[in-house]
Amino acid sequence: MPTPIVAGNWKMNTTLAEAVALASEMCGALDAVGGVEKVVCPPFISLKAVKDVVDGTSIRMGAQNMHYEEKGAYTGEVSPGMLTGLCEYVILGHSERRQYFWETDEVINRKVRAALAAGLKPILCVGEGLEEREAGWAKSVVTAQLHGALNFVTSIDTLAVAYEPIWAIGTGVAATGEAAEEIMGIIRSTLAELYSEAAAREVPLLYGGSVTPDNVAEYASQPNVNGALVGGASLDAARFSDIARGMAAG
Ligand code: 13P
Repeated sequence: MPTPIVAGNWKMNTTLAEAVALASEMCGALDAVGGVEKVVCPPFISLKAVKDVVDGTSIRMGAQNMHYEEKGAYTGEVSPGMLTGLCEYVILGHSERRQYFWETDEVINRKVRAALAAGLKPILCVGEGLEEREAGWAKSVVTAQLHGALNFVTSIDTLAVAYEPIWAIGTGVAATGEAAEEIMGIIRSTLAELYSEAAAREVPLLYGGSVTPDNVAEYASQPNVNGALVGGASLDAARFSDIARGMAAG
C-alpha cells in the first residue's frame, strides 16, 4: 500500500502575506500528523515564501500547474525547471485547467512527461462532469483521460492520480465513498493494464471534491483510496490538519 497523500490545492486564493500566514499555521497541527504525506500547493508567486516557512517540517510543496516547455517565448508561463528545487509535486490536468484553459489530454500528456523528466511528481487529475455521469459515461471518460495523459509514459513510479468528479468540486456534494471507490478501482485496474499489477498497486490514488473533516473517514476506509486532494478545506489549517489525520487513521 502506498503512503497516503493529502494535498491542499489553494487554487487562486491567498495573497503573498496570506499564504505565509496560512503556511505558518500549518506548521503546528499539520506538521504533527504522521502516517500521511502532507502537501501544500499555493499559487506560483507564493511558492518560495511558503517553502521558506515549511522547510524543516514534514510538509511538502506542490505547484498547481506548469508549462511543458523548458524555456522560451511563452509569456506568463512557468516551466518544469523553474519548479524543481521549489516543489516536489505538481498538480496536472485539473478540471479547472481543462474547463477554463482548454487543456486537452494531449497537452496534459506533454505536461506529465515534462514533469517526470524534470524529477517532479505529477498529481494527475481525472474526473467526469455531471452530464457524463448521468449518461453513464463516468468510467469511460476517466479511462480515456488516463490513456491520453499517460501516452508514451514508461514509468509510473512517482505518479499519483486524483479522481475529482467535476460535479463534486466546490459544490458540497461529495461523492459517496462507494461511488469514489468504484471509479478508483477502475483507475487502479487501468494502470495495471497499461503497466503492471505491481506498479499500479504502488500509485497513490486521491479522491477530490468537497472533502471535509466530516467525510474524510468515508474515503479513508476504501481499499483503493490513498489520500485526498482538497480545495476549500485546505485554506483552513485546522480543517486541513483534521483531514490529514482522518486519512492517516483510515
Ligand atoms: P473542493 O475541495 O473545494 O471541492 O475542491 C476540490 C479540488 O478541486 C481540489 O483540487
